[in-house]
Amino acid sequence: MSVCLGLFDSGVGGLTVLRSILQRHGPVPTVYLGDTARVPYGSRSPAEIRSIAAEVVAWLKHQHVSTVVMACNTTNALARDVAEGQAGVPVVGLIGAAAAMVRETRVGVLATPATVASGAYRQSIEALNPGTLVVQQACPNFVPLIESGDLSSQELREEAMGYLTPLLEASVEAVILGCTHYPLLEPLLRSLLPPDVRLIDPAEGVARQLDALLGYPIPGRPERPLSLENTRLCVTADPESFARRATPWLGARPIVEGISLRREG
Ligand code: DGL
Repeated sequence: MSVCLGLFDSGVGGLTVLRSILQRHGPVPTVYLGDTARVPYGSRSPAEIRSIAAEVVAWLKHQHVSTVVMACNTTNALARDVAEGQAGVPVVGLIGAAAAMVRETRVGVLATPATVASGAYRQSIEALNPGTLVVQQACPNFVPLIESGDLSSQELREEAMGYLTPLLEASVEAVILGCTHYPLLEPLLRSLLPPDVRLIDPAEGVARQLDALLGYPIPGRPERPLSLENTRLCVTADPESFARRATPWLGARPIVEGISLRREG
């Protein structure tokens, strides 16, 4: 089977993972599915999230992907087993990759309510780094505000200040961006955190985890220019709006297909 990665997320967030992979590995064949009809996932029940994961992975399987990349922490936290059972091909996730990137002893995790409630980040970090203090913060308003497309609003800034307060009070040394939408807020979060607090983007770990499959980059080589020539972008609702919102992150306006998960193809 030739290599084709299948990425999925609820919306634009997984593009941060796609971008990391393409910048490290060049224009790998990929199919990206943004389930924009059902965003946000992070305020849904575990049962709903598991049923959604089964459906999107079944669709990716139908596209003949050779590896599934869960470009969504929420499904990773609650439905990794579902994805693995459904995929029939290797599944790569974010949470283990992020835990492996932790070097600090006081770590904050920003994530969706469902991811925080699952405890998946705390368990993964503590398993790899016993004794680490993990301060988790659910950020229910981030994804709806990010999907609305205005990343410089005062509302977003105020939400960010509120969400960061418990992490600052606990003097964390690093903050994990535990939802793939949040790297889109990196400049805002950076401006609100002390300069010595490290931001950890799990997507970098995922891109590195794919080295064995896609090849090890030559040491010192700069990031590849972002090319979507082998990428198919699909969404379950409103492809035009997705294309517009994705443009700043992808460097050019992409072609986006509207698909139905219940229809094959
Ligand atoms: N970007 C996803 C995540 O990493 C889903 C966010 C959402 O839809 O709530 O958790």
